Amino acid sequence: MFHVEPKQSFRGRVIAISNQKGGVGKTTTVVNVAAFAGLAGWKTLVIDHDPQANASSVLLPQPAPQNLVTVYQGQIPLPTNEENVWLVPATSGLLDDELKLTRQDQGRHALRQKVLGWQQQFDLILIDCPPSLSALSTNALVASNFLLLPLQAEYFAMEGLGQLLAYVDDLQQQGADLQILGIVLTMYDKNNTMAVQVDNDLRLHFKHKVFQTAIPRDGILATAPSHGQSILSYDPLSAGSIAYAALTREVLRGLE
Ligand SMILES: Nc1ncnc2c1ncn2[C@@H]1O[C@H](COP(=O)(O)OP(=O)(O)OP(=O)(O)O)[C@@H](O)[C@H]1O
Ligand SMILES: [Mg+2]
Repeated sequence: MFHVEPKQSFRGRVIAISNQKGGVGKTTTVVNVAAFAGLAGWKTLVIDHDPQANASSVLLPQPAPQNLVTVYQGQIPLPTNEENVWLVPATSGLLDDELKLTRQDQGRHALRQKVLGWQQQFDLILIDCPPSLSALSTNALVASNFLLLPLQAEYFAMEGLGQLLAYVDDLQQQGADLQILGIVLTMYDKNNTMAVQVDNDLRLHFKHKVFQTAIPRDGILATAPSHGQSILSYDPLSAGSIAYAALTREVLRGLE
């Protein structure tokens, strides 16, 4: 039904979905891009790297397996109900991990070490980041080839964007193999003058680094998680679903 890019020959591209601002659509983007990439035949791993564990509560198979541990404590990928999508779930143990990572000299490379192995097994790895620029986010960015940045089109969004891009710049200068894949506008309302202005400013400034597809505000996107489903499983013909199909197509093309 949806045409998404066929899988390329390369393996294991890693994308961090990050923005230190909370509630901008990071997790929604991770879950739905994973679902559409899976549909297109990309064997996709979601690493839930946020102690809030929102991606896990959508994707974990029910009943949830016992004895889950964090990625740093050796959790292995679990199959999900979404085709071709696997999950390394988050647990609240990530909060303890974060303290330990902060104290270790090479703490920022810990996730990268885990991901290196999974790059051989998966075509695409998506890391859902917490809303902070903490040790967990640093680990995710250092482990990733690309940053996908969801942004809500509102006035204060731009300030946070500058901080995050400056941070990425620092990491690049310290040797991180990280590129900006793009900025995606989320919860977009084309009838809101402020949103349209932010959209225009952003495209003027960042040009092709802003995805053509903006994700509309669509209540169905907010309902699907309560059913433990991506929008592709829950309501594939909804506006939000069509937008995430288009975004996934752009994301996968951007990896070439
Ligand atoms: N396009 C959309 N339309 C309507 N609701 C949305 C949309 N995208 C996300 N939401 C809802 O907005 C809320 C925040 O989204 P989400 O959890 O994806 O953001 P987040 O950036 O991961 O948040 P956090 O920073 O807490 O991890 C959720 O309730 C989600 O269902
Ligand atoms: Mg989230």
